Amino acid sequence: MRVETLVERVKAHRCYSHPIFHNWARVNPGTEAIGALFHHIRSFCDATRPGWNLPQGLKEIGLSTESHLLQEIVDSEENHGPELAMMAGHIINRSVPGKAIFDDLTDQIHIESMLKRCSDELLGQLPGYDFATGLMPQTKKAIRTFETRKSTAAQDVYKSLGTALALEIISNRQLIPGEKTCLVDSGLYRASFDEPAMHYLVEHYGETGAECQHEQNAIEAVGSVLNPQNSAAIVQGADDFLDNLAALWDLLDATLLQAEVDRVAA
Ligand SMILES: [Fe+2]
Ligand SMILES: [Fe+2]
Repeated sequence: MRVETLVERVKAHRCYSHPIFHNWARVNPGTEAIGALFHHIRSFCDATRPGWNLPQGLKEIGLSTESHLLQEIVDSEENHGPELAMMAGHIINRSVPGKAIFDDLTDQIHIESMLKRCSDELLGQLPGYDFATGLMPQTKKAIRTFETRKSTAAQDVYKSLGTALALEIISNRQLIPGEKTCLVDSGLYRASFDEPAMHYLVEHYGETGAECQHEQNAIEAVGSVLNPQNSAAIVQGADDFLDNLAALWDLLDATLLQAEVDRVAA
């Protein structure tokens, strides 16, 4: 199998063309629904940043170039948590007329705790909802994909490489462009790339953005190691990621966006 085939496999998965962000732009969800959406998105994104033992594990099986490529991705993710919280707070502020809900967009803890409260309020009734973390089983499952990075067993290292490839393609081509569609292009929040509070999106979006570089690193790393012995594990790691994230997108779409359409129609 060639890496191009694997890239096509990711692009053919329904996660890649999931309509959640287009639905967000179309539905114009209320402030609480926006808060809940950001709570799950940021919880998921938080889990994708640490490299854990993956760079070390790659080194241990003799893949030091690939280890370096993955370490570059991990290093570039530093400080993205506070910037994502800032953007979420800014969008929440713009979703209500009048006085801003957050007057300090650098107060990450305050913003994130409000996002969680929105999730508790709107999604707390769902089966298996965990009030300690504000996560649903589907969010936890998507997060757990990245636990494999803690293992340095060769099979797990290859799985994590597949996960990294799928993650970076989705980030670069579905998640970040999707956020641009609903947060900026929709015009719902009068938000633009020129605003300091939108720096998160500027940093990640487009050909000069972080995700494009990550995608190139991941394709290069997988492309240089893919062989008949490890391809099953690499494909498995990509598929696990795509299936788990698609299930999370389905649930958020159904409960926070589709439900909003029904509420407005009622
Ligand atoms: Fe990031
Ligand atoms: Fe990335």
